[in-house]
This record gives sequence, structure tokens and C-alpha cells, in this order.
Amino acid sequence: MTDSISDYIIETQDLTKIYNRWFGLRMTEAVMGLDLKIQPNCTFGFLGPNGAGKTTTIKMLLGLVRPTRGGGCVLHRPLGDQDVRKYIGFLPEEPAFGRHLKAREFLTLCAKLSHVEPNEQRQRVEKALQTVRLDHRAGSRLAEFSRGMLQRIGIAQALLHDPTLLILDEPMTGLDPPGRREIKEIMLDLRQREKTIFFSSHILSDVEELCDSVGILNRGRLVLAGPLADLLAASGVEYTVTNMPATLLPSLEPLVAGMQKKHNQWILQVTDEAHQETVREILKRGGCSDAESRRLRKNLDDVFMETIEADNERRGKETQHG
Ligand SMILES: Nc1ncnc2c1ncn2[C@@H]1O[C@H](COP(=O)(O)OP(=O)(O)OP(=O)(O)O)[C@@H](O)[C@H]1O
Ligand SMILES: [Mg+2]
Repeated sequence: MTDSISDYIIETQDLTKIYNRWFGLRMTEAVMGLDLKIQPNCTFGFLGPNGAGKTTTIKMLLGLVRPTRGGGCVLHRPLGDQDVRKYIGFLPEEPAFGRHLKAREFLTLCAKLSHVEPNEQRQRVEKALQTVRLDHRAGSRLAEFSRGMLQRIGIAQALLHDPTLLILDEPMTGLDPPGRREIKEIMLDLRQREKTIFFSSHILSDVEELCDSVGILNRGRLVLAGPLADLLAASGVEYTVTNMPATLLPSLEPLVAGMQKKHNQWILQVTDEAHQETVREILKRGGCSDAESRRLRKNLDDVFMETIEADNERRGKETQHG
């Protein structure tokens, strides 16, 4: 694949936002030198602790906040381009709803505001209600909706004009596990319809389930980004061996990073690549040739915490020496 600008749905270079308060006496480096590249049809998880700069980045992508420095393109148009909004569906961090309106009325109003053609509004509203599985509540007032249902209405609102790109700021936050599951299923469904989804989240297990790629932001800076499978790949193999003779234990012990017995099975973790072949040989010679192996994988929680802690430590040292 060529690396030209037209390959990406979102691309930023040195995107920076510094907020000045108290007439420039106080500065907040909300986003610093952000370089992002998001492929079409990708589900991208944008992660970071509170105050990392996720919402500020999203606002710059949408043209709602002007960058202090740098820039980029969304859907091949420069940031701030008004026309491009027709192709973007947005769920803000704290969506506000006219709660006295019924779901269908609210979405019809949104369709008008999104410049959906009048003869298409009705069909688009019904389709969006179906997508978020609220068609059976179309006639209920939003005041009667639970938080999870309101979040689904927020997503329906973002889908009305059939956007190419969805930008969702914390779509799962504040929802219970069933509510999160519903939003995830909707997002997986949208992904199958080849939408590009850019969403921020703190819920790493959800991100792990949904995303092709992730970026981790810390204190305004992108500290890790890439395909999820690459970020979670760990060196090493785990063997599950049934009915392993105890006589093999002494020769295996020095070679494995961990071993655990569960009922009649041993689980052996071999993280040192150099020992993998030897362990396989010992098992084979000991009559355990049916040992199952799988590559070890890190979880996103660990990757996230390690990345943030290492960055905080590095920056702490830089501040001391600077
Ligand atoms: N309008 C503003 N004026 C001044 N500072 C701001 C403004 N908006 C955001 N900030 C600051 O910019 C930084 C990044 O905030 P932002 O809301 O982008 O973070 P976030 O990653 O979305 O956090 P959260 O996970 O809590 O939603 C914070 O230090 C915040 O206080
Ligand atoms: Mg935010």
C-alpha cells in the first residue's frame, strides 16, 4: 500500500492545541505534536487517562477547536472544512437531548438539522432507530429513557446522514455491562457496513474487543500507536499438556517462565524463544506429543499501564534534568 495522503481517512501532522488562560499567564498543553494516520474501514480506539487530550483532539478533527499549530485532513479535506461534516457522524462526550421530545421526533429534528433530504428523512430515522434497536420505543419520550438508551439515541443521531466516518467520544462510559454490550454490538454492526470508527474510551476490554488499531495519548502526547494485534503480541508460547509424567518436571523447570497445574493438565509458559524448541523436544520424548500450544498475548490493560507509567517516569526525569 502506498503511503500517500489519500490512503487515510484521518491524517494529522504536528497537531497541537495549547490553551491559554489568564491572559497567557497559564498554559495547558492539551495536545502536542500529534501525528495520526487512520486507514479506511478501521475501528480506531483512542485511549488515554483523564485530561490526556482526547476530546480536544476530537474537537480539532471536527473543526470545533482551532489548532495552535500543525494540522491535517479528515476525509481528504483540511481540518475545519465545513463541507466535510456531511460525511461525519459525531457523538459528543456529554450529549444533550430535548428530553420532552419523543425518540422519533428528536431524530426527525436532527435529520432536518443534518440537511437530510426531506423525502428521505422518514426512512433514515426509521433505519437509525432499527440500527440502535430502539424502533419499538420510537414513540416514547426521551425523558423516560435510561442512560444506555439515550446513548443509543445519540448514536442514532450520528448515523442519520449515513456518514462515512463516525467519531464517538466515550460511547460506553457510564453504562452497565449489558448497556456496553449493546453499544459494542451496534459498533460491530457498523464496522461490517464498512464505516470507519474513531472512538475514545477508558474501557480497555471493550477496546480490545472492537478495535483494529489503537493510539494511547498521555498528557497531550501520543505515546503508543499501531495495529492492536502488534501491540498485544508477546514473545512466548503457552503449552497445555494432559497427563504429563512428573519425571519431566525437573528438566522443564529451569526452562519455563511459569507452570501451573489444573486438574490433570499442566500449563507451561515459555517466554524465552531459545527454550521453546527444547521444551517441545522434552515433551515429545516424554510421550506428550499431543501438547497444545498457543502464542502468548498481552492484555491491553497491561500495555496501557506500562506505557503510561514509563512515559510519566521518562517525563519526570526530563523535568528534573531540564
Ligand atoms: N476550553 C478549555 N480551556 C482550557 N483548558 C482546557 C479546555 N478544554 C480542555 N482543557 C484542558 O486540556 C486538557 C485535555 O482535556 P481533554 O478534555 O481534551 O481531555 P480528555 O482526554 O478528553 O479527558 P477525559 O478522559 O477526562 O474526557 C486538560 O488539561 C483540560 O483541563
Ligand atoms: Mg474527554
